[in-house]
Amino acid sequence: MKSREQWGSRLGFILAAVGSAIGLGNIWRFPYMAYENGGGAFLIPYIFALLTAGIPFMILEFGLGQKYRGSAPKVFAMLNPKWEWIGWAQVMVAFVISIYYIAVVGWTLNYTVFAFDQSWGADPKAFFFGDYLGVTDSPLNLGGIRWNILAACAFAWLVTWAACTSGVRKGIERACKVLIPLLFLLVLVLISRVVTLDGAMTGLEYLFKPDFSKIADFSVWTDAYGQIFYSLSVGFSIMLAYSSYLPKESDTANNAAMTVFINCGFSLLAGVMIFSVLGNMAHETGKTVTDVAGAGVGLAFVIIPKAINTMPMPTFFGVLFFLCLVMAGLSSLISIVEAVCASFIDKFGWSRKATVTVYCVGGFALTSVYATGGGLLILDIVDHFINNLCLLPVALLEIVLISWVVGLDDIRKHVNATSDFAVGKLWKTCLKFVTIAVLGYATLRNFQGDIATPYGGYATEELIVLGWALIPFVLMMGVYLRNKQASPAFLTSHH
Ligand code: ALA
Repeated sequence: MKSREQWGSRLGFILAAVGSAIGLGNIWRFPYMAYENGGGAFLIPYIFALLTAGIPFMILEFGLGQKYRGSAPKVFAMLNPKWEWIGWAQVMVAFVISIYYIAVVGWTLNYTVFAFDQSWGADPKAFFFGDYLGVTDSPLNLGGIRWNILAACAFAWLVTWAACTSGVRKGIERACKVLIPLLFLLVLVLISRVVTLDGAMTGLEYLFKPDFSKIADFSVWTDAYGQIFYSLSVGFSIMLAYSSYLPKESDTANNAAMTVFINCGFSLLAGVMIFSVLGNMAHETGKTVTDVAGAGVGLAFVIIPKAINTMPMPTFFGVLFFLCLVMAGLSSLISIVEAVCASFIDKFGWSRKATVTVYCVGGFALTSVYATGGGLLILDIVDHFINNLCLLPVALLEIVLISWVVGLDDIRKHVNATSDFAVGKLWKTCLKFVTIAVLGYATLRNFQGDIATPYGGYATEELIVLGWALIPFVLMMGVYLRNKQASPAFLTSHH
């Protein structure tokens, strides 16, 4: 039997795992979440979630991937063939995310080019929604194809294809060894300049000034947990696939802790960068930081261009900022695509090249929907439903099954046999009780919220077709793929 591919070195693995974790979620989502949820006070639930869920869950996934040497469907099937579908459901979540994630990477590529002469002009908001995206009045009204977005997506698919077809060590590890150090370097260059801008300190005060009244609000805690799962790429098949390429004797616990700390440290750096810029913009325009700050997608593509317009050396800052987003986005995208392809390769014994090629070509065709005038609205709905109503439930299912039905002792022994430090009671308690309680509550609240109030003011039929339908899609595909005939090697361990 052909032996499973492996990472070339410990550093290579950590850079790839960090590359997966650090993504668009760190650069625009984290600062905005922190700001919305009480500034510095958000850091308390965030650090709590990092310690009680982030690190324990990462150790669990690294241990499972390494022990069973397989992608999500294989890990679940080896625990019990009846549960293989859960692995596939997680893979389907990753698949849906990959298709719109690439569209956002496409925007960041276009914006890197725009930054050279600030093509967004004096009104970046009108430019983004109008000239660039050509947003229509409904997600079901596609309007025309936006050719520059489609071209940027094609380029992003090509890079992903090149990395994934070249294999784990020669493709993914090599790409991350370039992308991640460069990303840190660029962010540090940017930060060292932006914190000295006039008004930067006012921006930072907004980010770090604790508003303790928010801490009592439970939604701040569920937001912190949601951010940790999305940002760490755990619970939706990615880290299982990456750790399945770990050599048998390599450490897992310490690698997991390092990945989590580097990711969360990077989020803080990104927060400092964004809020220094916002502080400077408030200073330049004579407004308050609250007036200039904006949420979600708008933060990166509307507010930052606006801020760049008011800064000294706008080309330098603009190009560097969007390049950071490109690199963070690409390295995460590669991991999402790899997780899905690895699952098909494991189950059906297909060749890597054919699997990745089919995925990238098919994926490109699907991405074209996001390159239309309806794209942003579709993305908004799909992103909300897949993260809140699909990702969190499948992660919850994983943790409930493994900590209560399978039991954590075997995997704990496996982790402790090779790791730099041992995990024990505290690790088990965090997974069995704390993580399940918060994740379970967050999931219930999400369903309740979406049933009570239609998301984002969209029409019911739009939400059913593009949002709610994702739940049966993920579940049915999970069961369908489980029932497909596997290659004979599927349930054997590779050594
Ligand atoms: N972990 C990736 C991100 O933060 C998906 O964007």
